[in-house]
Amino acid sequence: MEQTFIMIKPDGVQRGLIGEVIGRFEKKGFYLKAMKLVNVEKSFAEKHYADLSSKPFFAGLVEYIVSGPVVAMVWEGKSVVATGRKIVGATNPLTAEPGTIRGDFAVDIGRNVIHGSDSVENARKEIALWFPEGLAEWQSNQHPWIYE
Ligand code: PPS
Repeated sequence: MEQTFIMIKPDGVQRGLIGEVIGRFEKKGFYLKAMKLVNVEKSFAEKHYADLSSKPFFAGLVEYIVSGPVVAMVWEGKSVVATGRKIVGATNPLTAEPGTIRGDFAVDIGRNVIHGSDSVENARKEIALWFPEGLAEWQSNQHPWIYE
């Protein structure tokens, strides 16, 4: 099944939104495959956001990500990349729909609480970057009650 990389950014951690985020993914029917609370180095944040290095907001984005611990997670399930992005909501929280995480909990684009992979290919790269140690093997007992 498909996997995606989800990161709760430092503002989400500081504001006590870890349980809220995990709850939304769990209740949907996705499976948590890996999770860690980490402070990342500037060079690591630059690597994660390497595709955005030419953007004017790049330095501010990197500074934001290293400003406190983040929660890095891998979630698994059917179409979890695209559906995870819907759960996360639009990049700009002011245009994100109510009912999405950013729509419900954020105001500024530079404090938008959460990151979600934007494609299956990027999810694969981000999971490899954040979890070089690999993922735990397990399957939920609820699986047949969620998936046909
Ligand atoms: S872009 O410009 O279209 O490539 O950007 P976008 O795909 O919308 O967003 C990519 C990530 O950059 C973050 N971002 C910003 N951070 C701070 N300030 C500004 N102005 C800004 N604009 C975009 C945005 O939150 C995305 O971060 P992630 O963590 O990937 O969601």
